[in-house]
Amino acid sequence: MTMLVDVNAVRALLDKEGCGSFIGGIESLIEQTADRLAEAYRRWDEFAKGSRIGIHSVRGDIELMPVADHHYYAFKYVTGFPQNPERNLPNVMAFGALSSVETGKPLFLCELAIATAIRTAAMSALVARHLAREDSRSMAIIGCGAQCDFQILAFNALLGIEKFYLYDVDAAAMNKVVENLSEGEIEFVLPDRSINDSQASIRKVLERHPDIVTTVTADKTNATILTADMIRPGMHINAVGGDAPGKTELDKKILELEHARVVVEFEEQTRAEGEVQQMPPDFPVIEFHEIIRGIKPGRENSRQVTIHDSVGFALSDYAVLRLLYDKTQQYKLGTVVDLVPSETPDVKNLFRKVRRGDNEIGLSCDSPHAAGTRPLRYFRG
Ligand SMILES: NC(=O)c1ccc[n+]([C@@H]2O[C@H](COP(=O)([O-])OP(=O)(O)OC[C@H]3O[C@@H](n4cnc5c(N)ncnc54)[C@H](O)[C@@H]3O)[C@@H](O)[C@H]2O)c1
Repeated sequence: MTMLVDVNAVRALLDKEGCGSFIGGIESLIEQTADRLAEAYRRWDEFAKGSRIGIHSVRGDIELMPVADHHYYAFKYVTGFPQNPERNLPNVMAFGALSSVETGKPLFLCELAIATAIRTAAMSALVARHLAREDSRSMAIIGCGAQCDFQILAFNALLGIEKFYLYDVDAAAMNKVVENLSEGEIEFVLPDRSINDSQASIRKVLERHPDIVTTVTADKTNATILTADMIRPGMHINAVGGDAPGKTELDKKILELEHARVVVEFEEQTRAEGEVQQMPPDFPVIEFHEIIRGIKPGRENSRQVTIHDSVGFALSDYAVLRLLYDKTQQYKLGTVVDLVPSETPDVKNLFRKVRRGDNEIGLSCDSPHAAGTRPLRYFRG
């Protein structure tokens, strides 16, 4: 049997985790996910990994992300369709599974769109702990869609960031964030609405000298959300939205800034999908596991510009899937389903598993294959 966890079960889990406080539930899961991420990235060498398999079309991307250690195999199916919100559909939709490496049995099938937002935010904040200046107190966030609220909660909970400068081409998206997070102590600064040009608006936001800048926009193009002249010494850039071939957010001159330190999840995948797809193949990058394992330093000085070129790696989904599997068992959430015919008295008799019992009533059927209408023929010898 396999445990199935859908959106309703995740909602119930957030309720339990936050003891009734929705924001408290998300913060709790973000903090625990960050711990699980740290643990997984420290165990880097124990995982069989590879770049995700993407089907890229003009409108969007559908990606399959597998990874495994000696105990669990995990995969995520995830979409990126930037125009989907116009059709009243989310841009990022995801689900995934955990199975036993010993037997291949699927153990856990789970909604992962909410978990993706949680793990991406937790990973952003975890990496920023090693790269952002310790005295960082403010963050600009460009792109206020589905991921944004989670990013804010993660940077608030894990780094103590208290002040957020928001910008989105869509004013309703910014208002949504302020409304969703109005309960807390977080201070929001909205952009000057008199400026109509998006580049000029972003420049104005960055002139307020945020310590950290998160870009989390969605457009299937090589966009230029940030240019090098907007970046100040000591800034940390958390570039989240550029995550597919031909989909970037940073002007490449930012990556070329003297002594800039670029940190990625998994080099092979990020070279194809991240901001560094704009750079030559020998452009220097550091994988995050090297920092968390103490092999290489994080930030080296207070004037260094640090860049987290985030694309989303399967190991992060493994970490959040393991957490959700543990949590849903602890709280007895989800539904047990017969996803594959796994438990049967005679495993070689697959017929028996699916055949209707003598006492069960079948549906009436016009098929030429229906019982009684088609003579059974068999040959012997
Ligand atoms: N790196 C990762 O691990 C990871 C994980 C999840 C999502 N993502 C990516 O993050 C991005 C955001 O995801 P989402 O779920 O929030 O998408 P979304 O569609 O809900 O939100 C995107 C927002 O960006 C805004 N936007 C687009 N162009 C802009 C511009 N030039 N300036 C300012 N705002 C602009 C849109 O108005 C929208 O509000 C997507 O590109 C997605 O693929 C990356």
